[in-house]
Amino acid sequence: MTRKFNIEESLSAPELASHLSNPDGETGKQVGLLMNEGNKHICLNSYKVLAPKGDDRILEIGMGNGFFIPELLSLADNLTYVGVDYSSTMVGEALVLNAELLESKQVELLEASIEKLPFDDNSFDCIATTNTLYFWPDPGPNAQELLRVLRPEGRLLIGYREKAFMDKIEISNYGFTQYTTNDVEALLSNAGFRAVQTESIDEPELEFAGKLFEMTGFYTIGVKSI
Ligand SMILES: C[S@@+](CC[C@H](N)C(=O)[O-])C[C@H]1O[C@@H](n2cnc3c(N)ncnc32)[C@H](O)[C@@H]1O
Repeated sequence: MTRKFNIEESLSAPELASHLSNPDGETGKQVGLLMNEGNKHICLNSYKVLAPKGDDRILEIGMGNGFFIPELLSLADNLTYVGVDYSSTMVGEALVLNAELLESKQVELLEASIEKLPFDDNSFDCIATTNTLYFWPDPGPNAQELLRVLRPEGRLLIGYREKAFMDKIEISNYGFTQYTTNDVEALLSNAGFRAVQTESIDEPELEFAGKLFEMTGFYTIGVKSI
């Protein structure tokens, strides 16, 4: 069956784009569920490419409703996870969906923006962020903020759709900044990451606004120097 990406075509492109960048209220919750369907492959592949090691402390920026957190935690032993999202609607949903993991203290979820993260320097072994880059308000300083909270030798993974695809879908005209792989690699190198490299993984087709698209996820990784 073809995967679809809209709420039965009930939202206009600007409305859907607004809720993808900052899901709000009841419609935001519905868009969160829609993202779990439409972004399943890119979210799970981000985690696989990140490949956390046992005992890692992981930060995720913009986890939405956090539906895939248990899958990430199943990838190695004794992982701990902190998720931040600036949408109070998404943090609320993620708290409900991950109640047991929160209880066990394996997971923490906070409302915060990438611009100013409420963590000490060198706090995390790795950071993942999927489908958020388009909305970063100030990409250079935002990448440096991620570098600050990573420990030396820690890895940042950014999962995204490339400009060539985004150019084809209407929603990307409303508040999305588009990036080529070269742009993302330059962003990380200029922020001070080393060993920057990108992997791409093809996915099943997805239907956007009545049209079928071939889908590929891009995963750019950078490492913090010692
Ligand atoms: C398109 S959704 C992606 C959700 C999920 N990662 C996925 O791929 O399905 C973008 C998420 O990033 C969050 N977000 C956008 N800008 C952010 C920022 N500056 N700081 C923190 N979260 C942000 C939004 O609230 C939203 O939950």
